[in-house]
Amino acid sequence: MNAIVVTGAHGQLGRRVVALAAGRGDGTEVRAYSSADLDVTDPDAVAAVVSAGATVINCAAYTAVDAAETDEARALAVNADGPRNLARACGRVGGRLIHVSTDYVFDGTATEPYEVDADTAPKSAYGRTKLAGELAVREELPEAVVVRTAWVYDNTGKNFVTTMRRLEGERETISVVNDQIGSPTFAHDLASGLLAIETRPSVVGRTVHYTNAGQASWFELARAVFARIGADPERVRPCSSAEYVAAAPRPAYSVLSSRAWLDAGLPPSRPWSDALTAALAQSR
Ligand SMILES: NC(=O)c1ccc[n+]([C@@H]2O[C@H](COP(=O)([O-])OP(=O)(O)OC[C@H]3O[C@@H](n4cnc5c(N)ncnc54)[C@H](OP(=O)(O)O)[C@@H]3O)[C@@H](O)[C@H]2O)c1
Repeated sequence: MNAIVVTGAHGQLGRRVVALAAGRGDGTEVRAYSSADLDVTDPDAVAAVVSAGATVINCAAYTAVDAAETDEARALAVNADGPRNLARACGRVGGRLIHVSTDYVFDGTATEPYEVDADTAPKSAYGRTKLAGELAVREELPEAVVVRTAWVYDNTGKNFVTTMRRLEGERETISVVNDQIGSPTFAHDLASGLLAIETRPSVVGRTVHYTNAGQASWFELARAVFARIGADPERVRPCSSAEYVAAAPRPAYSVLSSRAWLDAGLPPSRPWSDALTAALAQSR
């Protein structure tokens, strides 16, 4: 019987992957490991859970982008040593690996969507550690699939969309940066994309990009959230990244091209605005 091993299973993406995989009802065994069940930085623990023929979907990561600036060693352990351990374990027993990476491997100076083979040049510690993870995976298991995504949110937990909903109830107006452009991505849709890969030999050994379609600034996304929950979008005011100081620099433009994804015969993603509507409807 096929098995899917999900690491970081209590994160926003991990939860969705587990729920969707279990809900398929096709007899696949779904083995979900939270960070408490499996520390991906522990090579022996990783080797113990990867079995022949299993597909590992690595949703574990150090995702605190600002904290990583002063905690890069820990971020590197989770984001690079972790995937290396998983790739090595898969290589040893004949397992498969789908590893999730980020738009933050790019510097954000592009003016059109990044193709999968565009030059990487991370600006932040988080981005550097995630790029190191991609390279470690490639080194250990050339047939692994690396999926870069961006601006992931869900309707629960701590993410940009839930933060906007909370702030809508707390403040009359909020300022949100309008000079960073990306593609908001609903964790449910990304999870479904990752599971689609599992059955496609066409992506073996490749790097692909998956986000919801289209692009927006954080400001536009915030206004879209307000509009969908019945609040006045004018209460969201634009500001610049220079005005909203964060520890880690972010790419100004990190839209990811879906060309490689579509060329591999994988299903197109829906527009981010439709996905956002669906996400907020689910939480009502
Ligand atoms: N969120 C985004 O906007 C975004 C954008 C681009 C790419 N991505 C990528 O998408 C993937 C999923 O991210 P997410 O949004 O689901 O993040 P998340 O909600 O922070 O989930 C990450 C999970 O990894 C777990 N984890 C941390 N250290 C671990 C370790 N040593 N061993 C095992 N598990 C560990 C965390 O557990 P604890 O909470 O217990 O530490 C958490 O449950 C990551 O690869 C991330 O880099 C995310």
